[in-house]
Amino acid sequence: MAYPKVTVVGAGNVGATTAELILLKGLADVTLVDVVDGVPQGKALDLMHMRSHEQFGPEVRGTSNYAETAGSDLVVVTAGVPRKPGMTREDLIDVNAGIVKAVLDAALPTSPDATFIFVTNPLDVMVNLAAHISGLPKSRLMGMGGALDTARYKYAIAKACQVEPSAVEAMVVGAHGQGMVPLVSNAKVAGKPLSEILSPEQITEVRAETVAGGGQVVELLKTGSAFYAPAASICQMVAAILQDTKGTISTCAKLEGEYGLDGLYMCVPCLLGAQGMEGVVELNLAPDELEQLKVAATSIKGQLEGLA
Ligand code: APR
Repeated sequence: MAYPKVTVVGAGNVGATTAELILLKGLADVTLVDVVDGVPQGKALDLMHMRSHEQFGPEVRGTSNYAETAGSDLVVVTAGVPRKPGMTREDLIDVNAGIVKAVLDAALPTSPDATFIFVTNPLDVMVNLAAHISGLPKSRLMGMGGALDTARYKYAIAKACQVEPSAVEAMVVGAHGQGMVPLVSNAKVAGKPLSEILSPEQITEVRAETVAGGGQVVELLKTGSAFYAPAASICQMVAAILQDTKGTISTCAKLEGEYGLDGLYMCVPCLLGAQGMEGVVELNLAPDELEQLKVAATSIKGQLEGLA
């Protein structure tokens, strides 16, 4: 069977775990790429050995040569430096901006028709930068941030309400960082509005836990940042695109007037399908949520100006 072709740039924690999930779910053949020669090849070989037990269909190979990524349908960019304890995602800006530029220079000429999903932090700044450098259409350029924040929000709500996360409908929009906005107005547990289940104090706590989730993992790991939930979030987006599900997923995507914002990439609910980012979904937000979204947009713009 011919599988779609996904390139995962960066064979570190997030990249390798993403490759593993894509294979286990049978979504695509994967090419793992890294600047450190031997690492993508070694991890690809290890994953192919796993195939004897797990019996997944697609194959994986590792390389440091972008010629082998030619004709990819999707390129997932996880190359970059992760946070260490005490660092914010914004502290990574200069070093990771250089890496994102280098990856685009190498990957775009060989896969000019690919859809690109960026994961490198600080996410919103990197996606806006990638859009500026590449000129890719908004349908084929997006970032993974909101999907991960949503996973953390659902977990926090589920824990507070003592239900499974699958019973929770909720979404996080805004910036992938301190400027994230866990939405309350649309959140439901088993079909009931969250505000009817938890007290305002509990909701404040759950939202704070969501914002702090990534930092907590960094403090515990001490040597890097989260990768299991990030990889699962990437995989959710990859599956929606390759299987054309038209699922609504919080995605760092270009706003052109939606939510009163224009010309900026940030995390909002989007329809993902075969054409990539097929449309921004405009939810009815509460006035304070809309205000928080605008604050996040201003902060992203400020960081972009610092970069120029
Ligand atoms: N091209 C390809 N790979 C690169 C490049 C480059 N120019 N620069 C760095 N890399 C590789 C590194 O060699 C390393 O293997 O990117 C990989 C990053 O892996 P980790 O250090 O394990 O970091 P990880 O936890 O995977 O996070 C990667 O995702 O969540 C974000 O903040 C995180 O920006 C970070 C990125």
